[in-house]
Amino acid sequence: MTTRSVYPQDSAVRDGRLSIGGCDAIELAREFGTPAYVYAEADLRNRARTFVSALADAHDGPGEVVYASKAFPCTAALRIFAEEGLSVDVASAGELHLALAAGFDPERVYLHGNAKSETELRMAVEAGVGHIVLDGADPERLERIVPEGRRQKALVRVTPGVHADTHEAILTGHAESKFGYPPATAHAIARREWERIEVVGLHVHLGSQIFDHSPFRAALATLAGLGPFPVYDLGGGMAVAYTHNDRPSAVADWVADVVAVAHEMLGRDVKLIIEPGRALVAGAGITLYGVEDVKRIGGSEGGPGLSFVAVDGGMSDNLRPMLYGAVYEADVADRVGLPGQPYSVVGKHCESGDVLIRGATLADPAAGDVLSVPVTGAYGHAMANNYNGIPRPPVIFCAEGRAREVVRRETLDDLLRRDV
Ligand code: LLP
Repeated sequence: MTTRSVYPQDSAVRDGRLSIGGCDAIELAREFGTPAYVYAEADLRNRARTFVSALADAHDGPGEVVYASKAFPCTAALRIFAEEGLSVDVASAGELHLALAAGFDPERVYLHGNAKSETELRMAVEAGVGHIVLDGADPERLERIVPEGRRQKALVRVTPGVHADTHEAILTGHAESKFGYPPATAHAIARREWERIEVVGLHVHLGSQIFDHSPFRAALATLAGLGPFPVYDLGGGMAVAYTHNDRPSAVADWVADVVAVAHEMLGRDVKLIIEPGRALVAGAGITLYGVEDVKRIGGSEGGPGLSFVAVDGGMSDNLRPMLYGAVYEADVADRVGLPGQPYSVVGKHCESGDVLIRGATLADPAAGDVLSVPVTGAYGHAMANNYNGIPRPPVIFCAEGRAREVVRRETLDDLLRRDV
């Protein structure tokens, strides 16, 4: 039962059988094949609404919830967030293309990146992107690219030199970060009279999957020392629960806490922007895998041995365990909550590091079973790849008992499509 807590809000377990958005997991696997990314559509909407109301409750002045689209760059999801009134953070021409295709008003787009190309800047300016978050050589380039008579609104990304407690690969606010400008440089850029750039405020992003919000205090104190400005973008980074042992703050509490620190440090009469990615999408999605094989090795004479459950995906659909040591739970999709034994859930890729979960508790898994791994809605589809010639999985949205494929599975011929 404990694992239930990390499944989407709009999911249920009846007689051990998992359903998402009213759709039976085993039926979904049969209809769409495995592996498949499955989302509870209502969760995406609810999470967006929760952020919007949390910010409105915490802050009287203008505020904006900006979806960090890198977490799940899928036009169907982007469309939902556009409908819910969110803005969008794009970090490349590709993400900008998707956001515009999904119907985002360009005015609501924030372009990020520590290495934006001239082409990307040009594309953003031509599209009429609302804000560009300045980093690196952006200011000088924009002075050349923005047409005469126009001024591009911008934020300056500050590296506050604050060390949040998260995996070092997803830490960004520390002094050694490749992102942003050190405070003194940021100050100089923000205060300079640019002909074609209008700096409206500052941006800071401390990192991702951050449980402890206390580093925001030091970060915002640094921003306060550079101000005042009318706009402050506080970035994303809110932690989510991947397992029932994780205890992140509720969205409303996180937003209230961070906004309270912003009020204290930056004043109340400012526009506040937050940029959640993971927290909007991670818990809304699960991955369904097919079990190909169950293998037991060693331990014949009383030793512990090891039991492997090998599935039909792995590091091509979820790189997070390999990159960040991320921990997940899993269930046999029609035996959820039944007592089980520990297994290593491994993928089908040609390397031993292709381990999705160590010590997953699974109830009698056997070849042909469907395995569900919850909380794969963020940075799964986003970082999928074709290692070992594995076609990338489809994305399925489920709502009110109906399932629709919003991204189809790649075909083997797709693997040939770029050959010249
Ligand atoms: N804003 C900026 C400028 C960012 O760089 C990011 C994430 C976000 C907002 C959203 O952060 P979130 O709310 O999702 O924590 N691939 C890694 C995560 C990389 C995050 C990159 N930047 C992972 O799978 O954990």
